[in-house]
Amino acid sequence: MLKSILVLGFVALQMTGSIVQAATLDKQTIIPKPVSVVPAKGTFKLSSKTAIFVVGESAELKQIGSFLSAKLSPATGFGLKVKTSDGKKVAGSIVLSLSANDTQLGDEGYQLTISNNNVSLTANKPAGLFNGVQTIRQLLPAKIEMTTVQKASWELPAGTIRDYPEYSFRGVMLDVARHFFQVADVKRYIDLIAGYKMNVMHLHLADDQGWRIEIKKWPNLTTIGGSTQVGGGKGGFYTQEEYKDIVKYAAERYIMIIPEIDMPGHTNAALASYPELNCNDTATKLYTGTEVGFSTLCTDKKVTYQFITDVMSELASITPGPYLHIGGDESHVTKLEDYIPFVNKVQEIVARTGKKVIGWDEIALSTLQPNTFVQYWAKAYNAQRGVKQGAKVIMSPGANAYLDMQYDTSTKLGLHWAGYIEVDKGYSWDPATLVPGIGKENILGVIAPLWSETITNMKEIEYMVFPRLPGYAEIGWSSPAGRSWSEYKVRLGIQGERFKALDINYYPSKLVTWSK
Ligand code: ACM
Repeated sequence: MLKSILVLGFVALQMTGSIVQAATLDKQTIIPKPVSVVPAKGTFKLSSKTAIFVVGESAELKQIGSFLSAKLSPATGFGLKVKTSDGKKVAGSIVLSLSANDTQLGDEGYQLTISNNNVSLTANKPAGLFNGVQTIRQLLPAKIEMTTVQKASWELPAGTIRDYPEYSFRGVMLDVARHFFQVADVKRYIDLIAGYKMNVMHLHLADDQGWRIEIKKWPNLTTIGGSTQVGGGKGGFYTQEEYKDIVKYAAERYIMIIPEIDMPGHTNAALASYPELNCNDTATKLYTGTEVGFSTLCTDKKVTYQFITDVMSELASITPGPYLHIGGDESHVTKLEDYIPFVNKVQEIVARTGKKVIGWDEIALSTLQPNTFVQYWAKAYNAQRGVKQGAKVIMSPGANAYLDMQYDTSTKLGLHWAGYIEVDKGYSWDPATLVPGIGKENILGVIAPLWSETITNMKEIEYMVFPRLPGYAEIGWSSPAGRSWSEYKVRLGIQGERFKALDINYYPSKLVTWSK
């Protein structure tokens, strides 16, 4: 009886939004859910005297310390200083250090130990420390995310968290081709995914409606192909310098950029820019509609492969990550007998740049190279064919993980060709059991794509992405054994305050009780 009164009281507090933060670590509501949480007595209180120490003279660790300080200082007003330490604990401080080999934590895991006197964050690699920093943010009141000084008790509950991801690939895809998004928008999106420990941003840089990356040897791609977008707006493109700036910004948040040039279909912007890429040597008209599957590069022309070599070489030279994405989806007007040798040749071209190929699941119709990865979006049969050839799969199932699918029939933005994806449906699936014959050992990770036929600005991106994104982050990070919608939705509801503090335009799903 007493227990049920307590439970009722707890639920009531949540309903009224009075629980703004876990007072003890066992009530933490972190997303993605950590592997292990052991509460202890006490709290660590941030104050104007708190400093952030990094152990050893490491510019990279100092940068992570500065990132943490930049997140904690505006709302607290404390101006936390970042200092170098010899490893001795300084009372009242937050200490970031690289430990020796804690094999269980891997490259991205961390251990966070909080006591009355200190906060100690350790990891094998800087990426792990960065992930631990995201946990520190979420353990503090949501107001920590605000950019002006707030009144709050800035306390971290004592105990130890040990945490590491289920999958090494966790991220999003943003279609900047159908509608173009400015560098500042891409950076904001990077910041938002970093907070949920995602580590990949796949940029869909070219499609029928626009070419968005400067290629110096083929300038018309951007001057002509980049000049419009869906609906006929002025489009845009990233110069190589701007792209490098995005890559650097992402890398500082331990996020890898994967650039995609979709081919041989989804290429009208290129075909409109250069007549020689067309079999009839005539440039197509720029396209601002939303049909798919009508364009193709001319697969038996030599110049096509020179074009691809130039594009992929320039892209490889400005992309430090190991992957180049070649699209390969929905090439409905490319004959299969042309499509297969085309994908085989493009794999060879990419291999010569030193990069590995990712393609949408259709590429498994070709002969996959050992370093080629298949991104499952539509046909289980294709993904299974990829696995049979030894390829690893990235899970982006349209019916579960497409961020442009509408929440329900009342959603104004987005599409619903793969169905409606309410927040519970987006969360309630397991990559390792979704497709027969594809298990955890075959899966690199999860990417949730946002196609932008109907999405025109950052506020619209936010509305489709939130609140589903934390769910995809959790699917990628946390063990399926510990996941259930009924438990998750309570934690998600509490994130509502954080969405508000970050000024995120989220969809307030009725399936969730949002704390405000
Ligand atoms: C896709 O949605 N055409 C990959």
